[in-house]
Amino acid sequence: DAPLRDLAAAKGKVVGTAVSGGKLNGTYADIASGQFSSVTPDNAMKWGSVEPSRGSYNWAEADQIVAFAQAHNQQVRGHTLVWHSQNPNWLTNGSWTAAQLRTVLQDHITTEVTRYKGKLAAWDVVNEAFNEDGTYRSTIWYDNLGSDYIAQALTTARAADPSAKLYINDYNVEGVNAKSTALYNLVKSLKDRGVPIDGVGLQAHLILGQVPTDIQKNIQRFADLGVDVAITELDIRMQLPYTDAKGAQQKADYKNVASACAAVTRCVSLTVWGFTDSDSWVPDVFSGYGAATPYNESFAPKPAYYGIAEAFGGS
Ligand code: G3I
Repeated sequence: DAPLRDLAAAKGKVVGTAVSGGKLNGTYADIASGQFSSVTPDNAMKWGSVEPSRGSYNWAEADQIVAFAQAHNQQVRGHTLVWHSQNPNWLTNGSWTAAQLRTVLQDHITTEVTRYKGKLAAWDVVNEAFNEDGTYRSTIWYDNLGSDYIAQALTTARAADPSAKLYINDYNVEGVNAKSTALYNLVKSLKDRGVPIDGVGLQAHLILGQVPTDIQKNIQRFADLGVDVAITELDIRMQLPYTDAKGAQQKADYKNVASACAAVTRCVSLTVWGFTDSDSWVPDVFSGYGAATPYNESFAPKPAYYGIAEAFGGS
């Protein structure tokens, strides 16, 4: 069978996976490079990873992943510049004036985006800015800088690397709901104001049997605003144990999501948040749940894998 990356390419799409630098050898590396045309560092580019103490940078894992991608003719999605989570303690515990914080944020974005200038296809510039009801999430950024931190972050990122596509990324925004509508209204207003925004990332951390029925409609409404859409962190978790019946449902669910992307020209990429069940965040966070990815723990493709393949025209 043709690898996913070839199937996706034939449809004009990119198919990606989150990766961990420390695992990029052996079978894990073979699948990551053979099947996928894009990689997203799962943690390596987060602020707490790259600048654990102020002014002291650690780029080793991020550099490693970028080099791996270049060696295998893959894109890289940078993840993520502005978030409320996985920030270094010096930032979280610091006491800052708004002016100081604005400068710290600008410096961070400029430093990191400049380091990978010309090498990344896209950046998740702002991650998880909204609450479920569509209000802005209370974070160090929103609480101190107001909602304009988003426009400032995008503008700073554009100046540092004009060639990277700039995204806002969030979860529970796959269907039409209060949160995705708030995101839609934000993107619309950014476009109206001339703020640089190229795309919307739908994380898509989904639950078995619960793919929103209006996912394609939702992707289309963002596309109609004049931005790209990316499925950025797809996984579909189930209550363990895995059974053949759940595997069949999971295949249908993966196929649904990938088909929705395949059907919309401006849905440019689909990335899974780890390709193997041995490398998934799900069991650590949702007790009793797992088996959320397209490959099992022994690196064998599951029905879910074939759900993606079929959506991209394979078998
Ligand atoms: O590196 C430390 C290690 O030194 C320590 O011994 C170990 C003990 O718990 O923790 C390790 O850090 C963990 C880190 O992953 C690296 O493995 C953190 O505890 C753990 O919280 C962290 O989880 C990451 C999570 O983001 C944090 O929110 C997941 O790997 C990562 O997949 C996940 O990714 C997020 C996206 O960035 C945003 N969208 C949701 C998605 C899933 O939560």
